[in-house]
Amino acid sequence: MPPGASDPEWGAVPAGSEASIAVHWPEEARLPPPVGLAATANVRDDGLRTRFRERGFPECFRECADLLTWMHPYAATFDDANPPFYRWFVGGSLNASANCLDRHLDLRGDRPAIWFVPEREAAAPIALTYRTLHARVNALAALLRESAGVRAGDRVTIHLPMTPELPITMLACARLGAVHSVVFGGFSGEACGRRIADSGSRVLITMDGYDRAGRRLDHRPNADTAIAVAAQAGRTVDHLLIWERDPGTYASAAPLRPGRDLLLNDVLPAFEGRAIAPVAMPSEAPLFLMYTSGTTGRPKGAQHGTGGYLAWAAATSRWVLDLRPEEVYWCLADIGWITGHSYIVYGPLSLGATTVLYEGVPAHPDPGRPWRIAERLGVRVFQTSPTAIRQLRQLGPDAPTASGHRFRVIATVGEPIEPATWRWYHDVVGKGEAAVVDTWWQTETGGILTSTLPAIDPMKPGSTGPPLPGIDPVILDDDGKEVPKGSGRAGHLVLRSPWPGLMQTVWGDPDRFVTTYFARFHRETENPTWRDWPYVAGDGAVLAEDGYLRILGRLDDVINVAGHRLGTKEIESACLSLPEVAEAAVVPVPDELRGKRPVVYVSLRRPSADPRATGERVTRAVETAIGRFARPKAVHIVPDMPKTRSGKIMRRVLAAISNGSDPGDVTTLSNPAVVEEIRRIVAAAGSEGS
Ligand code: WTA
Repeated sequence: MPPGASDPEWGAVPAGSEASIAVHWPEEARLPPPVGLAATANVRDDGLRTRFRERGFPECFRECADLLTWMHPYAATFDDANPPFYRWFVGGSLNASANCLDRHLDLRGDRPAIWFVPEREAAAPIALTYRTLHARVNALAALLRESAGVRAGDRVTIHLPMTPELPITMLACARLGAVHSVVFGGFSGEACGRRIADSGSRVLITMDGYDRAGRRLDHRPNADTAIAVAAQAGRTVDHLLIWERDPGTYASAAPLRPGRDLLLNDVLPAFEGRAIAPVAMPSEAPLFLMYTSGTTGRPKGAQHGTGGYLAWAAATSRWVLDLRPEEVYWCLADIGWITGHSYIVYGPLSLGATTVLYEGVPAHPDPGRPWRIAERLGVRVFQTSPTAIRQLRQLGPDAPTASGHRFRVIATVGEPIEPATWRWYHDVVGKGEAAVVDTWWQTETGGILTSTLPAIDPMKPGSTGPPLPGIDPVILDDDGKEVPKGSGRAGHLVLRSPWPGLMQTVWGDPDRFVTTYFARFHRETENPTWRDWPYVAGDGAVLAEDGYLRILGRLDDVINVAGHRLGTKEIESACLSLPEVAEAAVVPVPDELRGKRPVVYVSLRRPSADPRATGERVTRAVETAIGRFARPKAVHIVPDMPKTRSGKIMRRVLAAISNGSDPGDVTTLSNPAVVEEIRRIVAAAGSEGS
C-alpha cells in the first residue's frame, strides 16, 4: 500500500511531492555479485575504498585526476576559499577533446570510438574510429573558429538528435574551449530559445531532420522558433549552422537565411585535413551547461567545469560501469541529458572505450531490437532507464532470450527501479550472469554518487547501494537532525562533502546556486569551509542498516517522467500562456510505464463551451512550451482551485484527489466545498477514460 503523507516514517516528505507517492516496497534480500567478475573487474577488492579512506578528503580525488592527461599539472587538489564555490585541481590545465581523442590515437586510433546505429534497421551500423572522429572534430573546430568566430569561453547552443554529429559538435566546442549547451532534441523550439537567451549563445547548431519511431521528423523549424524566442529576450543568434541527416540532401521545408545560415555538410569539405591544436583550458574553466528544471518556471543552467567533471566522469565509468579500453559499451539514453554527456560521450571516450550511439526509440520496430544490436556489436556493458526496461519487458518479455548477447554489467539510471522490473533486468536481460548496478545521481552531480561496485558489492533490488568512494551521504530530517540508518524513516538526502563532479554554479545566477542546493542546512561560522555547506540533493531517501540507500523521489516541485526532469512550475506557466486559463496547478501521479506523469488542473476565466477542446489546447500549450515528452496524463477543468484563506493553491489536496488518497483536513480552506466537486470531476474523467 502506498503510504499516505501522514505516515510518521514519511516525516520530512511533503504531501503532494513526487517522493510522497513512492510505493513502499519491502526491503529485499541481497544477491552476491557475479563470481565471473571477481578476477577481471577494474575494481576487484577493497583497495580502492581503503585508499580513499587513507588519503582522506580531498587528496583521495587525485586518483580520479590521474586518469586524465594534463597539459600542465595542477598545484592543489581542492580550494574552498569561497564555499560553496569550489575549485578542483587548481593550477592544472587540460583539454577535454584531447583527453577523449588525441591521447588514444597511437594506441587505438583504428578502433571504433563510436558505433552509430541508425533507427532504420536496413541501414548498417557505422563505425567511426578514434582517428576518423578526431579528424571530423578538427575540421568542425576549424570551421567554428573561422566561419562563426567561436572562441574559448563562448557559449554554443546545440539542438541535435542522436547522431554522431552531436558528440562531434560537443567535442569541437571543447577543443576550442567553448562552452557547449546541449538542449535535448525533444525540447520544443520555444524551450530551446529560452535556453539560448539564458546562456547568451550567438551560435545555434541544429540538423534538418531525423528518424524517430519510423518517421522522418522535420527538426529545422524548431531553430526558427528558438531564434525568434531568443530575439524577444534580447539575444541575437548570428549563426545558425545546420547539419544534414543525410549529407548532401537538405530535407527541410524551411528556407535558409543568407548571411546567418550555413549548411555544414556543404562547407566542411574546405576544412578537411585541418588540425586545430586543443586549447589548454584551466581545470576550472566551464566545459558545458546543462539546463535542468527546478522549483521556479525558469530552468537553470548547471555549469560543469573541465578538470573536475571529466575526472569524475572517467573515474565513475571505470569503477561502476567497469568500462575498459576497446570494449563495446552501450548507454541507451539521449546525449541531450546529463546521462548521455557523462556516460555516452565524456566517460567512455576519455577511457578509450567504444560507445554505441543509437538514433531511435528502443522498441523500434520491435522489442527485440536492442538485443539484436547488442549481439551484432558485441556490447558487454549496457545501461538504460527503468522506463525503457519496463517498456521492453512489457512489449517483449522473452525477446532477450532469443539473442546471443552476454552482458557483463547492466546499469540503470534516472528513476527508482521497482524489484519486479529489476528482477527481469537481472534474470532475462542479464541472463542471470551480469551485475546490475542501480546508479543514483543528478545533472548537478556530474556523475554517479551511489551504486554498488559490480564485482565486490552484493546487489539489492530496489535500492541503489552504498556511496561511491569519496562520497559522504546522510539523511536529515526537517530540522537538520541526522536520521539514523536502519530507522526506516525518510528524510532529505544530503552530501556532507564535495566531490570533483559537483556543478560549479548556476550559469549567471550564483545566488540561486547557493539558495537551491546549500542554504537549507548551512551553518554560519566565522571561517567557513566546505564542512559548513552540505549539498541538498532535493530527493527523499531512506538509509538501510547495511548502508544502502533507497531513493523515493523528489521533495520539491520536480516530476521525473520517464527519467526526464520536469518542473511543475514550467508546465503551469505553459498552461497560463492561454488567455482563457485563470489558474493552473500540476501534480504528479504514478504511471505504470513512465514512473510518474504530470496531471494538470486548470480553472478558466469563463466556462468553456467545449471542455474537451479546451483540454486539448492546454495539452498543446505544454507541448509547444516544453516538448511532447511533457504531455500531461490528464487535464482537468475545475470551477475553482482549493485554496487557503490567503489564496494559496493547495496542490497537496489536488495530488491526494489524483492519487485516490485522503486529502486530510480541508475545513480550513477558503472554499472547502470545491474539493468534493473536483473529486467528482476527476472520478467522471476516470470512468470515461476506462
Ligand atoms: C532521480 C539523471 C532513483 C532522482 C542522472 C534525481 C533516481 C533525479 C536515480 C535526477 C536512481 C536518478 N534511483 N531515482 N538510480 N537516478 N534519480 O538530473 O530524483 O535528470 O534527483 O539526472 O532523478 O535527474 P537528472
